Amino acid sequence: MGSMLNITFMLLFVSIGYITSQEETNVIKHTDLSRESTLVWGPGLCTDFVVPARYFYIQAVDINQQNFSESLGDIFEVKLSQQGGGPARVWVQTLDRKDGTYLVRFKPFSTYKDVHISIFHEGRHVAQSPYLLRGQVYHENCYCPEASLEKWYENMKCPDSYSQIESDLSVFNSVDMSKVVKEAVQRFNQAGTHSICHYAVVTNKVYRTCYGQHVGFKMFMDNILLSLTRKVLLPDFELIVNLGDWPLEKRAATNSPLPLFSWCGSTETSDIVMPTYDLTEASLECMGRVTLDMLSVQANTGPQWQNKTSKAFWRGRDSRQERLDLVTMSRQHPDKIDAALTNFFFFRDQEDVYGPKVKPVSFFDFFKHKYQVNLDGTVAAYRLPYLLAGDSLVLKQNSQYYEYFYSDLQPMVHYIPFQRDLRDLMEKLDWAIAHDDYAQEIAQNAQAYTRSNLMPADVFCYHVKLFQEWSKRVASKAKVAKGMDLVPQSSDSCDCDRQVNKQNKDEL
Ligand SMILES: *[C@@H]1O[C@H](CO)[C@@H](O)[C@H](O)[C@H]1NC(C)=O
Ligand SMILES: *[C@@H]1O[C@H](CO)[C@@H](O)[C@H](O)[C@H]1NC(C)=O
Repeated sequence: MGSMLNITFMLLFVSIGYITSQEETNVIKHTDLSRESTLVWGPGLCTDFVVPARYFYIQAVDINQQNFSESLGDIFEVKLSQQGGGPARVWVQTLDRKDGTYLVRFKPFSTYKDVHISIFHEGRHVAQSPYLLRGQVYHENCYCPEASLEKWYENMKCPDSYSQIESDLSVFNSVDMSKVVKEAVQRFNQAGTHSICHYAVVTNKVYRTCYGQHVGFKMFMDNILLSLTRKVLLPDFELIVNLGDWPLEKRAATNSPLPLFSWCGSTETSDIVMPTYDLTEASLECMGRVTLDMLSVQANTGPQWQNKTSKAFWRGRDSRQERLDLVTMSRQHPDKIDAALTNFFFFRDQEDVYGPKVKPVSFFDFFKHKYQVNLDGTVAAYRLPYLLAGDSLVLKQNSQYYEYFYSDLQPMVHYIPFQRDLRDLMEKLDWAIAHDDYAQEIAQNAQAYTRSNLMPADVFCYHVKLFQEWSKRVASKAKVAKGMDLVPQSSDSCDCDRQVNKQNKDEL
């Protein structure tokens, strides 16, 4: 065994707060922690769980085998080292979820072999620490796709199926992509009103042609496709992606709709939904460019429920009439609703009525309030995943718009619904105020749902399942059309010991 080298690592602890009060009798003491009984689990303890930032969990358990349910402060130290190797650069972050559990995430900046994860409390190992990730621990920018989709699903612990995918694709069978592309360009490439891209993934390389004036958002589609092809050998397929906010295909299922892939769906359109570019980018840029992602939000859910203000909170821009109406309601009921506009664009002429605009509030500060109002913007408000993950109750406007996971959510279980025109919002809010236990339970259900369904791995799983199922419904052979651009793979050099080039199609 080589010597343990622990050259460079960075540690960053977020949201720290020891409970230090000596007067109280029931004070939580981290000295009551049982290092042996404390639980450590999660996908980040497996080598083949390849995501940009890997993650696992710690549940603090006391000497009487009881789970802690409140924060113990910053008591765990997590270190990563590679065995017998050169310097290991890994960014580690321990997120305190304030409920006795911790989320640890780490991002290797290179591919390392045999990585040890040590979890310490007061200098001593916790649970089965150190954990060994045996073999190559690939970093995000390593091009090293797993050849078998089935194996990849297993590594990522993906669900077998998604009802949204089944229902979205049920209309499409034996699709001829050359017809689809021709028609899509004819119908949706008019005078720069729509922006669409035709993508082809062939032998795990990404190609595209875009149409329209505003095609900057192709970057998001490029990023997820490139990231996926680094991780798994995708089947060959072509698709038309709608880069705009609105779902486009108004033809009903019975009227030969075109298969268009969009970030937002609606009950009035037949578009196939993908996880939004916002959630996808947050999953890709975890511990990178974005600060709000489904992991960071878990450690920034504000005060404990009892200590939140009993108010409904909302901030945003003026993208819809109901947003202005909510501001009016807030002025009528300042004791119960705190809503204000942070920007005027669509209703600039009414700024003197609904303004002045206020300074934006940090998203994490939303959770100082018990109730969060979710109102559509131009389409579905893409903040909903983060709102549901916080420790607040979500009141959600009824809407024809939806994201890919909304069909999983149940009213009065995960959120409280209200009418589109807000007419029963006060009534619903008063009900929540009067039924505090129920309100808190709904908030907790929503939080639990997001923790097990909207994590970065879930976003990757959904995309791959969607593309695989889609590829089965296309009869034409996927090909690179004339004039398509190759989207270059931005991979670093790394030591890939998978047989990338042995493309065994039978396994796909
Ligand atoms: C303790 O926490 C773990 C992980 O959060 C959970 O699976 C287990 O059911 C909890 N045990 C009790 C007795 O609540
Ligand atoms: C609520 O806030 C008070 C005052 O800051 C604090 O003493 C108390 O511990 C908090 N309660 C909870 C449940 O966090």
